[in-house]
Amino acid sequence: MIYNQWYIVLDSKEVKKEKITAVKRLGKDLLFWRDNSNQIHCVERRCAHRGADLALGKIVNDHVQCPFHGIEYDGSGRGVLIPSIGKNGMVRSNFKVKSYPVIEKGGFVFMWFGEEKDLPEIKWLEGIDETFNYSSLTDIWPVHYSRSIENQLDVSHLPFVHYNTIGRGGRTLVNGPIVEYKDGIINVWVNNVVDNGQKPLKPEEVKKEDCIGRLQFIFPNYWQNIINKDLRVVAAFVPIDDSNTIIYLRFYQRFLKVPLIRNLVTKISMPFNKKILNQDKRVVITQRPIKSELRMNENLYQGDLPIIIYRRVREELKKSSKEVSE
Ligand code: FES
Ligand SMILES: [Fe+2]
Repeated sequence: MIYNQWYIVLDSKEVKKEKITAVKRLGKDLLFWRDNSNQIHCVERRCAHRGADLALGKIVNDHVQCPFHGIEYDGSGRGVLIPSIGKNGMVRSNFKVKSYPVIEKGGFVFMWFGEEKDLPEIKWLEGIDETFNYSSLTDIWPVHYSRSIENQLDVSHLPFVHYNTIGRGGRTLVNGPIVEYKDGIINVWVNNVVDNGQKPLKPEEVKKEDCIGRLQFIFPNYWQNIINKDLRVVAAFVPIDDSNTIIYLRFYQRFLKVPLIRNLVTKISMPFNKKILNQDKRVVITQRPIKSELRMNENLYQGDLPIIIYRRVREELKKSSKEVSE
């Protein structure tokens, strides 16, 4: 995992008021809950007393209560009550569980994984706001999250993996693509064409206005396909652990103005999106090794430029945060 990053870890809807949501994310057993003021908290699940799983406990007065001996922890993971020493007893500071900063944005829960000082602002997907309406689905893939990200930056797989859906038309020749990286964001302009025997254009020969669409990826784990200004596919590639990823896929649209029809169309389109995702899954889960690296036994070509840039930046970010990583 890249350290010092805001990761999308859940859909906001998964965290309910005064209820425990227990999940594994980034290889850690975590527990989330929403307090009475709607603030989400995240702590690790192992009780500091004798190691019971807090996920079996409950939320009491905005605190999580261990199911074993009732110790209560607040949102910062600090033990605030040990019933056996009484409510006026002094709780020693070692009765604490690790907590993680959490922020909601765009209907996702972001978790800070890193050093807890001067946290940066969360970057958000260009152009997506509450004027859009969306439907969502999730799926679990038995791969490292880097593989699922690279798949969505891969512009040459379309006519093969998606030959009967979004890759129709046999545009096998990849011009460019144009890839730009700045401040944790990769943008890719796609220009795939039918092969008439011509040479593919170099990235610098491709014009942005000739491109059929743009992909935008934000480190460490979210992405959108900008089909046009009113139509987007968004995905978050959430690491469960080193070999499993949960994908949160959303289909956003706002070209229909009537809310009821808009909702309906957004919902109806989901089986199609699910089909496309399954076409990807079928192949990506067969890639070996399941985790990608900057230097590995693969042979890349010009059309893989977005993947090359992704690997390079990921490597740089991993290195630059190494000194402070655990
Ligand atoms: S193990 Fe949690 S209170 Fe004892
Ligand atoms: Fe795909």
